[in-house]
Amino acid sequence: MPLKRTVVPLLDEASATVRATGTANTVILRGGRLLGENSDAYGMLQALRDARVTHAESACVLGAGATAATALAVLHTLGCPEATVIAREPARTGELENAAERIGIAARIRPWTEIVRHLTADLVVSALPPGAADKLAPLWPSAVRNTLLDVVYKPWPTPLADTARHAGTTVIGGLPMLLKPGRPLGRATDRLHPGTDCRDACRCRTGLDRRTGQGTENVVRATIPTRLGETGMVPWGRRPADAPAPGVCLI
Ligand SMILES: NC(=O)c1ccc[n+]([C@@H]2O[C@H](COP(=O)([O-])OP(=O)(O)OC[C@H]3O[C@@H](n4cnc5c(N)ncnc54)[C@H](OP(=O)(O)O)[C@@H]3O)[C@@H](O)[C@H]2O)c1
Repeated sequence: MPLKRTVVPLLDEASATVRATGTANTVILRGGRLLGENSDAYGMLQALRDARVTHAESACVLGAGATAATALAVLHTLGCPEATVIAREPARTGELENAAERIGIAARIRPWTEIVRHLTADLVVSALPPGAADKLAPLWPSAVRNTLLDVVYKPWPTPLADTARHAGTTVIGGLPMLLKPGRPLGRATDRLHPGTDCRDACRCRTGLDRRTGQGTENVVRATIPTRLGETGMVPWGRRPADAPAPGVCLI
């Protein structure tokens, strides 16, 4: 999603993860300032840890977009010194390579034609949109007890996840990752407690008075702050014209 990168130069303040990955999925409006956070990284790390994946010697990331950069940060946290990144356009991976350098992980960019040999890595992260990895399902190696994290959550299971699971791979879907952004949101808003998951964020969201928009620390998924709107980004929803800007936007 290009907004995750586009938004970064517009921020007044960025978390360490945002600065390293060059991507933000959460924008908090506080005191007229835009603060950027990357809660995807926390969600991905927790989803892996919940599946008892705490280390990876070798890793392969499918895709070279915003979520791929997040995956590199997570792999670095797991102690992985290098990762193979499969990109359909290896000549267009400059932003990802810069992120890898800031993160401190060696990223070896490889074309799709080389994909098969890398699917045996300890940890494979598919950071591709729905459908893009479907053609890989017949190529999944059998009898390799590795781990696949597929960030897709709908439709689920993906053909790749289904095949990998039948081959004995530990498979983690996108939903556990999606439901785990509580800690960075909690830190940022002082409302949610560390460790709470997205469902709590949603409860917080429903506390928003829809008529007045009161509650500037609420989580609002459907609206985007005016300053971002002025840049040409499309608001996802409506809010009353006289309502104050929302506290948090998830991109
Ligand atoms: N579960 C979660 O919590 C969670 C969190 C974040 C994101 N996601 C999901 O992750 C997916 C990717 O998001 P993103 O922000 O990383 O998107 P992105 O920045 O647009 O990156 C997508 C990457 O996939 C590649 N790609 C797209 N279609 C392809 C195809 N048909 N064949 C090969 N490569 C293809 C793109 O290649 P090019 O660069 O050549 O276009 C790009 O490298 C989205 O579906 C999003 O919903 C899930």
